[in-house]
Amino acid sequence: MAADVHHITHPLVQHKLTLMRQKDRSTNSFRRLLHEIGMLMAYEVTREMPTSLIEIETPLEKMQAPVIDGKKTVFVVVMRAGDGLLDGMLDVVPGARVGHIGLYRDPKTLVAVEYYFKMPHSMEDRDAIVLDPMLATGNSAVAAVERLKETKPKSIRFVCLLAAPEGLKNFHAHHPDVPVYTAAIDRQLNDHGYIVPGLGDAGDRIFGTK
Ligand code: URA
Repeated sequence: MAADVHHITHPLVQHKLTLMRQKDRSTNSFRRLLHEIGMLMAYEVTREMPTSLIEIETPLEKMQAPVIDGKKTVFVVVMRAGDGLLDGMLDVVPGARVGHIGLYRDPKTLVAVEYYFKMPHSMEDRDAIVLDPMLATGNSAVAAVERLKETKPKSIRFVCLLAAPEGLKNFHAHHPDVPVYTAAIDRQLNDHGYIVPGLGDAGDRIFGTK
């Protein structure tokens, strides 16, 4: 596995992912599990988050103690499935800012077309964590990160739930500098661009639109 792919093998994440893959799992349960996995993955993806020391007073004495500046983190949601990971992440980093990227693929040209893009100001001071549950072909992830890079964030990390080997290869061919955090690397893509064994259409399963 490439050095810049972090496979999150924690048993809690793996257990919840297995439940999410089950085809008869309800929308409510699927969404709740994704929320919980979002919290657990936030723990891994923020491991290198910088801290600074502040002076506090315990009941016994003064001390210098570490704190993080949550506002320096920006979660970048790739619409719409990325929304499913956001709330769990915000539970753990409540001070984070949130950006949104909306892209669709033109069916004729296959070029990614942007329909929404909104980031917080001063991105050059912020560490960006991109959220998109399914890294399938990787094309929309590549386009989203390309667009995000125009805002010059201090760092970029990419978080997904499932990745296909083809998507990882494509993504890192374009963005070798962006580490990917994933709960699983599945076997392959099928002819329709779905990850197999996968979990189906993440957006439809989160929002109950099918
Ligand atoms: N998007 C999804 O939601 N599921 C896949 O398997 C691939 C892309």
